[in-house]
Amino acid sequence: MTDYDVPAWLAGETAIVTGAGAGIGRATAVLLARAGAFVVAADRDLAAAEATVAAMGAGQALALDVADADAVRAAIAAVHDARGRIDILVNNAGVYPMVALDQLDAATWTRTLGINLLGASAAMQAAAAVMTAGARIVNISSIDSLRPSAPGLGHYGASKAALNALTRSAAVELGPRGIRVNALLPGVIATEGTSGSPPEYRQPFIDRAPARRLGAPDDIARAVLFLAGPLAAFVHGQQLVADGGLTING
Ligand SMILES: NC(=O)c1ccc[n+]([C@@H]2O[C@H](COP(=O)([O-])OP(=O)(O)OC[C@H]3O[C@@H](n4cnc5c(N)ncnc54)[C@H](O)[C@@H]3O)[C@@H](O)[C@H]2O)c1
Repeated sequence: MTDYDVPAWLAGETAIVTGAGAGIGRATAVLLARAGAFVVAADRDLAAAEATVAAMGAGQALALDVADADAVRAAIAAVHDARGRIDILVNNAGVYPMVALDQLDAATWTRTLGINLLGASAAMQAAAAVMTAGARIVNISSIDSLRPSAPGLGHYGASKAALNALTRSAAVELGPRGIRVNALLPGVIATEGTSGSPPEYRQPFIDRAPARRLGAPDDIARAVLFLAGPLAAFVHGQQLVADGGLTING
């Protein structure tokens, strides 16, 4: 559902969106571009990032694995060198492998934390080093940071709860420089990443959510645009839930 007008709130600005090759990241990149930003679509899958740039009609695709902190630092420095500014960073790249507690191994922890938490941390650190007053960071967390949406996601919820804490801390440290940092907590969203789940997994979420539907990637992109745009000028260090009301029903 993208049939709405978008003001040119971000004209002249440069935004980086990680994990922009699919799902929430792609929808976010497209919406930020519609709002006037030059968007760098970063993804470990370069072809997917290039497809996002094609959908935007402008912008830049970047091959980037956010779990590689050195590569994150180099990529963000290169974007800043080329563009002269970084106004918006959206830390969206994330993974949510379902592994029950009794099967949870070091490799799953390392991968989940390395992407969801350390990747976002490295990107925030590198971006903050070059951002100036007025810049914004949005970290894509999850309602799983508040309470489990399903069994097998303890490591995932922990990674996102840590991301919430890091977001608040970054807001405290970067706020005085005029940089706003917030977290966005999506509910259950129909993306490439969740498309493999069977209908019997999805239906209970639809039944419980007052909105009576799963979210669409564009639902979350709109909330990102709010947090990254001028309407959220005084919103610092918050956790915005966008879940169709799912969490108010347990
Ligand atoms: N879909 C949901 O229901 C849901 C709910 C809450 C939060 N989230 C969060 O939203 C974000 C996006 O989720 P999605 O469902 O759109 O995912 P998705 O799997 O549909 O797409 C993720 C994209 O990120 C890229 N990616 C994965 N690991 C990467 C890495 N190490 N470096 C760079 N790119 C990488 C993938 O190539 C892919 O293009 C994640 O952080 C996820 O935790 C999703």
